[in-house]
Amino acid sequence: MSALNNKKILLGVTGGIAAYKSAILARRLIDEGATVRVVMTQGAQAFIQPLTFQALTGNPVHTDLLDPAAEAAMGHIELARWPDAILIAPASANTLARLTHGLADDLLSTLCLATDVPVHVAPAMNRLMWLNAATQANCQTLAARGVRLFGPGNGLQACGETGSGRMLEPEEIRDHLMAAMQESVAAPQSESLSSSMPASEMANSANGSGEFLGGKHILITAGPTREAIDPVRYISNHSSGKMGFALAEAARLAGARVTLVAGPVNLQADPAIKRIDVVSANDMLEAVMNEVGSADVFISVAAVSDYRLEQVMDQKIKKSAEQMTLSLVRNPDILHSVSALPKRPFVVGFAAETEQVEAHARGKMARKSLDMIAANHVGQPGNPVFGSDTNALDVFWPADDGHAHVPAADKQAVARSLLNLVSRRLQAHQNAQ
Ligand code: PMT
Repeated sequence: MSALNNKKILLGVTGGIAAYKSAILARRLIDEGATVRVVMTQGAQAFIQPLTFQALTGNPVHTDLLDPAAEAAMGHIELARWPDAILIAPASANTLARLTHGLADDLLSTLCLATDVPVHVAPAMNRLMWLNAATQANCQTLAARGVRLFGPGNGLQACGETGSGRMLEPEEIRDHLMAAMQESVAAPQSESLSSSMPASEMANSANGSGEFLGGKHILITAGPTREAIDPVRYISNHSSGKMGFALAEAARLAGARVTLVAGPVNLQADPAIKRIDVVSANDMLEAVMNEVGSADVFISVAAVSDYRLEQVMDQKIKKSAEQMTLSLVRNPDILHSVSALPKRPFVVGFAAETEQVEAHARGKMARKSLDMIAANHVGQPGNPVFGSDTNALDVFWPADDGHAHVPAADKQAVARSLLNLVSRRLQAHQNAQ
């Protein structure tokens, strides 16, 4: 049975060209058995008529906070209590800012303030508005409060620019919502990213602000390593560094002091991030060991070569025999070296798996004594994860067989969700000590 069957969804539509897609979204939610009521902001009505949603949902559309006729039918407090979840799609930059600051000067913002059900948002805006530090900080704050962000996606935008900020497709938003509804049903074993934490716990783990990692030092590895064969050749892999760099940026925006140890990649990091460029696994180990002493959290995203040449050739190998054999030796396991330290940080590993994701990831977590592991399903047709802009994670931790699913989204959004989990588990870990 669909996770949306018999669920009441309040769909908030705000001003943006993607508002037309919300009509399709409403239809998709109804197809899954949900009852949908729509609240539109004034901005949304410039793009699409309330009548469209009324016809699609069979319910009157709510537009005004102080409309005596609407209040007589279903007052705004009653409307805030009605749904099982609120979904805002598209969520404009303005709406995200208004939610962050707790404004209550229109119907949608008032409902979000007056409800205790999960609030989910599907951002949609120009790429520079999305990348703006103010928007990113607002998103961090909302995520820290348990608001779940679906997307945004990447691609060509209505303004003609290309980048992050497109609203996800209606079917993708529907799938995210269904995953969120399922997770809240599966709690507590599967911790929902949007689960309503007690206010006191939230205040500790996230300070109730966008700077939920304020005062923490986060050490991250990213990208591939290169193991030299001779002066012109090397062994490596397809890691682009995007996932690790997205985590570093999200950690910076969450107020952390960030050190990023990067293999050879073609990416820029914010100047506020301390970046150490390395080439081989041994270089990466050395850099990590130099920095880890002051780290509160170590996140090992790098795809480290497991082997290196037993002997690197001084001169370029000449083509002669039909076959050649290279003798390889094991590289150090950087992640395990960190978790074996007597004074260790909170240690998060990544697992790139092609099958039996949970079994292999949990096996790795146990063997490497990790506090948490983020598994990505690599090599899938359409999304190899290595090198791509999007990812999805299954995150596991030892306590109570912990598990959370981070649905597919661009790596920036996935990074924010993962950091949110790390922050919660770190707090629980520290409380337990
Ligand atoms: O860089 P992108 O293109 O964005 O791609 C992201 C990614 C796929 C590389 C990333 O999401 C990811 O999965 N990184 C881990 C890849 C990997 O090497 O997985 P693994 O299962 O082989 O290693 C398990 C863990 O041990 C990882 O945390 C790895 O960093 C660590 N490790 C592995 C070997 C080694 N010698 N030292 C290590 O520290």
